[in-house]
Amino acid sequence: MIAPSILNINNLNLEKDIQTAVNAGIKRFHIDIMDGHFVANLSFGPQLVSDFKKTFPTSEAEIHLMSNNPDDLVPAFTKAGAQIMLLHYEAMTEEKLNYWLDYLKENHVKAGVVLNPDTPVSVLSKFISKIDQILLMTVFPGFGGQKFIPESLSRIKEASRLVKGKVPIEVDGGINGQIAKKAKDAGAEIFVAGSYLFCQNSVEKQIAELRGILQ
Ligand code: DX5
Ligand code: ZN
Repeated sequence: MIAPSILNINNLNLEKDIQTAVNAGIKRFHIDIMDGHFVANLSFGPQLVSDFKKTFPTSEAEIHLMSNNPDDLVPAFTKAGAQIMLLHYEAMTEEKLNYWLDYLKENHVKAGVVLNPDTPVSVLSKFISKIDQILLMTVFPGFGGQKFIPESLSRIKEASRLVKGKVPIEVDGGINGQIAKKAKDAGAEIFVAGSYLFCQNSVEKQIAELRGILQ
């Protein structure tokens, strides 16, 4: 599955570019939430998510929460209409992470754990039984348009051995056609792509190209 990241869309063209992707058959969008503390960038707030759900009710909103403040933001984005929420292992204690994963389950929001490129993949074993998805960062989070970290391929293989097909593995950061193919061969099933889809000449053409490569 391709889950386009809307981070690097010209913010004044969000509706137009998302509509183009919907018309091209995209079912899920990856919405990067950055708080200026956990990462050195600011992006969207809960209103963007509720506006997204109003305008695109049949599209799935996947929230990648890059914030050390889950206590305020997990409920706020749940209320805004998040359907999948991905929480960073590095952003809170394990106790807190467990608490918010349980909260998401109770509120019928699919839940996942995100790992930065330098966090051991082995920590996932504590969460596999209670999550719907894993997100492996293939760049250090904060900005779109970065270069894929090649060592990520062995991390995808390691995660794949660990989850044994029980939980899908998603990859995020520096994904283009060529890299998506390698990530797929390593065991990834969900592909976040931002600048590769939205910062070239044609969104339709880029989606078709990535889809063709992943088939
Ligand atoms: C990075 C974000 C990514 C980013 C992907 O912190 O989590 O989702 O927008 O953008 P590209 O595909 O350009 O690396
Ligand atoms: Zn992301």
